[in-house]
Amino acid sequence: MLITESTDRLIAFNESRTVPVTGRRLYIESYGCQMNFSDSEIVASIMSEHDFAITPNASEADVVFINTCSIRENAEQRVRNRLKEFKNLKNLRPGLLVGVLGCMAERLKSKFLEQEQLVDLVVGPDAYRDLPRLLEEVYGGQRSVNVLLSREETYADVNPLRFAGNGISAFISIMRGCNNMCSFCVVPFTRGRERSRDTQSILEEARSLAQSGYKEITLLGQNVDSYNFSQTNEPAVNFAALLRSVAEAVPNLRVRFSTSHPKDITNEVLETIAAYPNVCKYIHLPVQSGNDRILARMNRSYTRDWYFERIDSIRSILGECAISTDIITGFCGETEAEHEDTLSLLERVKFDYAYMFQYSERPGTPAAKQFKDDVPQDQKSRRLSEIIKLQQGHSFSRLLAQTGRQQNVLVEGRSKKSAADLCGRNDGNAMVVFQAQQNIRPGETVRVNIEQCTTATLLGSLAMK
Ligand code: SAH
Ligand code: SF4
Ligand code: F3S
Repeated sequence: MLITESTDRLIAFNESRTVPVTGRRLYIESYGCQMNFSDSEIVASIMSEHDFAITPNASEADVVFINTCSIRENAEQRVRNRLKEFKNLKNLRPGLLVGVLGCMAERLKSKFLEQEQLVDLVVGPDAYRDLPRLLEEVYGGQRSVNVLLSREETYADVNPLRFAGNGISAFISIMRGCNNMCSFCVVPFTRGRERSRDTQSILEEARSLAQSGYKEITLLGQNVDSYNFSQTNEPAVNFAALLRSVAEAVPNLRVRFSTSHPKDITNEVLETIAAYPNVCKYIHLPVQSGNDRILARMNRSYTRDWYFERIDSIRSILGECAISTDIITGFCGETEAEHEDTLSLLERVKFDYAYMFQYSERPGTPAAKQFKDDVPQDQKSRRLSEIIKLQQGHSFSRLLAQTGRQQNVLVEGRSKKSAADLCGRNDGNAMVVFQAQQNIRPGETVRVNIEQCTTATLLGSLAMK
């Protein structure tokens, strides 16, 4: 592991190696989904192999990487604003290099160098192995771009450097890219074709995390249910089989996964979750809309009834299981009645949690080419607030239903709001806050009596052991 703020330690680390000590420091900032955060750990690993030390302070960095997201216009805007701030830093620290990585790099390619004069390097999600070489090009006075997408790259052999983690929970990427072509979505263009990572390398990573003291892993992919790894002469491994193997490989760790797709999540997967106590009973199942015409326009490949059937199966196979979702409101052509269908779907399912967004047109996507982004902004905002209001009530009542029970909580650390309290998550991924006790350390699993709740948090006290 190489996470250091001081050049001295970097030199100490390097003494046993033949490569020259450069002492350069790299600061990485990440935006977007968990996969992007996971990718930053891959980037950190590759760069540390090339004598870069990861620093948590941009102000002392020689190189800044910003790992970007293109999912909505405001995600890109946030990055543009941040790049302006780095421009000031560049004035203060001549020689500072700024690289743009991730989905925005892939989407805008060399346009970035034209538009954003301060950017030195543009590198897409499948080209991270090339980063050290590209950076040398930049040091040689050239601005560099590599945005080639790959059909094979999974970084299976790269051991992620978990520089920003808490040492308790870790992400494991099990696949990359997406083949689904939901019409609103930029991901297939920025991440390329779907490919699954070698099963053995996933199991090895899980075991090594367990050995390093981690207590929870989350298997990541844009559509984990289409995981499929095959090698010559061996049967293909689907997601249910992978989940089984992971659960058995690390029986003392909590296992989570994200994201499931309603069209692909199978009963075999649900039965696997039911069969292993260390697989958390929590499913993130983005629905996007409650109306069939809009779902078809979105190219989601399922209907409202299909979605209800999947929810019913989750509840009948798993009994209690936390379910969260994603909603897009104000998609092209969405009428008031179609918006009402989304509200009624929320009412029927009563999600534990939801991530709710206004539709944001992404250039080059099928929706941008085929449909008009014609729901006026004030209506998008009003529909979104109706959805949020309804969901907040559901989130609250789901949490309230858990009061009076005793739950397992994996302690993460001090509560942000009060140093006298500890916090951690229950099996269903809800945050639980309870009064600290001296002998309890982050990483421990404790029993907590759940007594009260807010709209986002459960409050309780430690159960006597
Ligand atoms: N692979 C996941 C989602 C990845 S993107 C899935 O299939 O569900 C995360 C969420 O961002 C999506 O579920 C969707 O709700 C939202 N999103 C994607 N594109 C969007 C857009 N153009 N405008 C608004 N929200 C969008
Ligand atoms: Fe985007 Fe759809 Fe793929 Fe999710 S499944 S990443 S929404 S194209
Ligand atoms: Fe954003 Fe790319 Fe993830 S667009 S949501 S960072 S895959």
